[in-house]
Amino acid sequence: MLLDPNYLRDRIRTVPDWPQAGVQFRDITPLLQDPKTLRVLVEQFVFRYMDQDIDLIAGIDARGFIIGAILAHELNVGFVPIRKKGKLPYTTISEEYELEYGSATVEMHSDACKPGDRVLLIDDLIATGGTMMAGKRLLERLGAVVVEGCAIVDLPELGGSALLREGGLKLFTLVDFA
Ligand code: PRP
Ligand code: ADE
Repeated sequence: MLLDPNYLRDRIRTVPDWPQAGVQFRDITPLLQDPKTLRVLVEQFVFRYMDQDIDLIAGIDARGFIIGAILAHELNVGFVPIRKKGKLPYTTISEEYELEYGSATVEMHSDACKPGDRVLLIDDLIATGGTMMAGKRLLERLGAVVVEGCAIVDLPELGGSALLREGGLKLFTLVDFA
């Protein structure tokens, strides 16, 4: 489907000064709420990845779970969660990272993927890139091949997508907010 480049952008809500002063929060929930928009959104990723050799999708807590699980179902592959610290019940591996507003730790189950698995990493948004880079490190520690990182939104001014690309990660994003 040919998509007006502004179709998704116009449906993302910007909330100023949330969760703290100075942050322009790009809220993707309106994209999920409307059934046609949700379908258009998912199709962008399905068309990108339907003919690629992917074994597994790894979605990042929390909004990467939503689109990641739908995409895994559409591509007929499995889904594994990359979660914030302390949420996973079994043996985990962890990576710390810095955020636009703070620092955090992400974790994966140590058996979430196996060496050689071709994994697509997905989140809703890339800001400083710290979260996605930490996710990539986790997957690579388990021996996975990170095929690509993808997200709905890129905030290029925060430099994350450039850093991730410099770090060797191929990226696919749908909407930029400069
Ligand atoms: C947001 C967003 C990404 C991350 C991007 O999640 O969903 O996961 O920040 O930021 P970065 O590129 O600077 O690392 P957040 O940490 O706010 O957690 P949430 O999904 O639980 O709201
Ligand atoms: N995560 C980090 N920065 C963000 C922003 N500006 N909007 C939405 N999620 C974010």
